[in-house]
Amino acid sequence: MLYWFFFVVIKSQIWVLLTKLVEFSDLMISFFFRFIFTRTLLTHHMFLSILNHRTMFETMLILPIAIAFILLILQKIRKKTNYDDSASKLPPVIPISYLEFLKRVTSGQLPQSVLEWHRRFGYPVFYTPGIFGRGHFAIVADSELMREILMDQSSTKPGFYKRTENLTGTKTMFSENGSRWMHARKSIAYAFSSSHVKRMNEVTVKHTTEFMEVLDNLQQQNKSFDIGKAMIQLTLKIICEAAFEFDMDISDQSTFLRELEIVLLENRNGIIPLRWMFGYLFPKVRRQHVGTKRLAALGRKILEAYKNLQNPIPGTVIDCIVRDESYNNDEERIADIIILLVAGHDTTAYSLAWMFLDLAKHEEEQNKLRSSLKAAGDFQERLQVPRLHYVIKEGMRLHPVAPIGGMRLCNRDYHYVVEKSDTKVQYKIPEGTVTALSSLCVLRSHAYFDEPDRFLPDRWRDPSDIASRAFFPFIVGKRSCIGQPLANAEIQTILSTLILKYSWSVEDMGTDTFFTTYKPIGAMLKASKIVSN
Ligand code: HEM
Repeated sequence: MLYWFFFVVIKSQIWVLLTKLVEFSDLMISFFFRFIFTRTLLTHHMFLSILNHRTMFETMLILPIAIAFILLILQKIRKKTNYDDSASKLPPVIPISYLEFLKRVTSGQLPQSVLEWHRRFGYPVFYTPGIFGRGHFAIVADSELMREILMDQSSTKPGFYKRTENLTGTKTMFSENGSRWMHARKSIAYAFSSSHVKRMNEVTVKHTTEFMEVLDNLQQQNKSFDIGKAMIQLTLKIICEAAFEFDMDISDQSTFLRELEIVLLENRNGIIPLRWMFGYLFPKVRRQHVGTKRLAALGRKILEAYKNLQNPIPGTVIDCIVRDESYNNDEERIADIIILLVAGHDTTAYSLAWMFLDLAKHEEEQNKLRSSLKAAGDFQERLQVPRLHYVIKEGMRLHPVAPIGGMRLCNRDYHYVVEKSDTKVQYKIPEGTVTALSSLCVLRSHAYFDEPDRFLPDRWRDPSDIASRAFFPFIVGKRSCIGQPLANAEIQTILSTLILKYSWSVEDMGTDTFFTTYKPIGAMLKASKIVSN
């Protein structure tokens, strides 16, 4: 009798427990699919009606399939990281949910969130939330550790970079390791050597002079303008002429910018698992493929235009690409043209946009810079003005356009020590980890800079060793920015010329957003010509 009593009670408890488990799982799955579907495939209304018409029996049928499906995805993600707990402690996982993390990734607030987490929890290295309490990849926010990983010859770019191939339809020097990268890097590097910087400066001066006519017209109409968009148009013109001897007209420019945005937007959404698993079901994914083809068509137009030139200038980027016989075909050449165009225009444009915005916000700094530039003699002397370099460095420190300076696959273990009061704890980033090197965390760190959130160009007058070593916006090592000489030539020329000739004020600060680069979307400025010049 007692036996039957316990059997019934326990059985009923088990049944209750099972029911609760199913309900709970259903809730979790609903939440999961609500998040994914409402953002992707189904409308909110369709989703709710499916949920409301589902019976318990159907749920129990769907449940194992859904769980198996989710586990498969998680397994796929997890396999990418090789964990070994045996030796030193592993970096901690940031205590936020995976869904919260995904939300931040797709919202354009990831680097700012990474900085917020770094400051809140104080970890020099931490895993982003992942599955089963494991991290997806490790964020590194310590400048020396970042240097160690970047300078290590064994470090490689992880598979994550393959996503950039949606821009080109094929492998590029940016996404690849090994010989595909090495031959292109070697031949293109010649185009950025000091002998070519003079010509890059001349091209920049020409287009900056043309841009001043646009500024004068805007002033006559008493109009403000979007500084980011204006700088994008200017840097696109400059890179096309300086690197590719190509005159990009308005129609090509708008095609390039429109298709680029479409491809990049879908790239960002592509991190949602359903998106990359069932890509072709989504119209936006199909549209992305059209965008890739249109970008390639523009790349081909640039290549053909170069081939038709009567007297091409030797040693330009495109000349180096065409002469490099290690490319297997023109499709590979076109892919590198597109990736250089993408990597080279928006980074420089938004670095400049931030600098103009920072100077417009800080009138006294703007005046100090203008006075120093006036005191210098000619154009060449102006480029050497120390204050110009303090402002440029401070702009790139406060608002690094590449806030995640790079991602690297660690092909060996890295050790670091965290000191807390009297204790020292050794941690290990294990071989096989994918690291994201957060320039924003380093450049805004209280450990390296006083008052890191303020625009203080004078901090660069006599910087500490620790501050100088923490500043590498173009990163370091074999995969550092190949276009740095062109970027510097553009920034120095455009900033010095336009600050000398115009007084700048803010109409709208815009919104700090991360979309491929860190940018002040919608920032509106006014420029008034200084008559005494
Ligand atoms: C202010 C402007 C710029 C900044 C802050 C910047 C920053 C960077 C950073 C941080 C990287 C490393 C990315 C990674 O490993 O994920 C990089 C790589 C690269 N950048 Fe720039 N960049 C700028 C301008 C340019 C320009 C003007 C060009 C070309 C004309 C260019 C072409 C490239 C290329 C091709 C790479 C890949 C190099 C390789 O993998 O070997 N960048 N840049």
